Amino acid sequence: MAHDHTVLSTRAACLAALRSSALSSNPGSAQANLLFMDGPAHTRLREVVRGMIARAEPLPPDVRARIEGIAGGLGDEFDLVADFARPVAAAVTAVVLGVDLPPRVIDDIEAVTANLDAWFGRGGAADTAALRLAMFFARAGVLPEADVTEEERLVTPVVLAHAAFENSRNFLALAGLRLVVERRPEDARSLANEIVPARLVYRRPTEDVELAGHPVRAGQTVAVRLDDGLPFGAGPHTCPGAGVALAEADVALSALARVLRPGHRVREVEYSTHPVFHGLERAVVRLGN
Ligand code: HEM
Repeated sequence: MAHDHTVLSTRAACLAALRSSALSSNPGSAQANLLFMDGPAHTRLREVVRGMIARAEPLPPDVRARIEGIAGGLGDEFDLVADFARPVAAAVTAVVLGVDLPPRVIDDIEAVTANLDAWFGRGGAADTAALRLAMFFARAGVLPEADVTEEERLVTPVVLAHAAFENSRNFLALAGLRLVVERRPEDARSLANEIVPARLVYRRPTEDVELAGHPVRAGQTVAVRLDDGLPFGAGPHTCPGAGVALAEADVALSALARVLRPGHRVREVEYSTHPVFHGLERAVVRLGN
């Protein structure tokens, strides 16, 4: 695994990196993971995934009702992660996958966050959760007819579930926290630019190349920052779920704004420590003085 890292610091270089065909998304491991694929194979699999995401576009009325029900059920005391962001993200992820997701499956989706650790030669516990998820989705018959290889059939639902759930949960929790503190509803798109739930993506140049004045060498690991107005990335891997994420957040945050009372205050906040995914472990909101 390469130890030679560089971080791109300007927005122009980050955008150039995301758009450049000289940079691979593959960390060097042969995986049928959409996020790690390049070229025509990536384009083909991405079409399959886009078809699944389209199940949630526009958000079906029963999902909207479910999200409003989750927010409507928040009482005098609640945790923005466990009682709001997590169940909302789970409801939307279930629609995209086309199956109900029992609580143990949501636990496993949370545990696979570390799939990015392929960039650093680690895996471990996340692999076990990913395997359990692959088996669950295979039994549920997700992706039965699609034009995919056997390995893609196993891996793709896991990657999609994680992508749909993780960033949405973090975004909803952080945006909810801001709403409770500031009491000023904002639209989801401008919030996504400021909150940036995924801070970085990684790429590997297949040749020496210059990106908006920043030279990178073949084989280096390049960290691309997304916190300067690129919350959904750009180029061939740009988030295909951005529309769903924003629609989901608009419904959920409006519903949260309606249940908040003047005495609701944030009591305890714990941020998560993942270097890439920016989120909350918990944020307890309680009515009182
Ligand atoms: C606020 C919420 C979200 C944020 C900030 C976000 C951000 C991102 C980013 C930055 C990427 C690009 C990764 C890269 O270039 O390597 C990405 C990819 C992806 N996202 Fe999202 N995402 C969100 C929600 C969602 C949702 C709700 C879905 C599904 C319904 C989704 C599905 C995907 C998929 C499948 C990919 C991989 C695309 C590919 O590799 O071609 N995302 N997301």
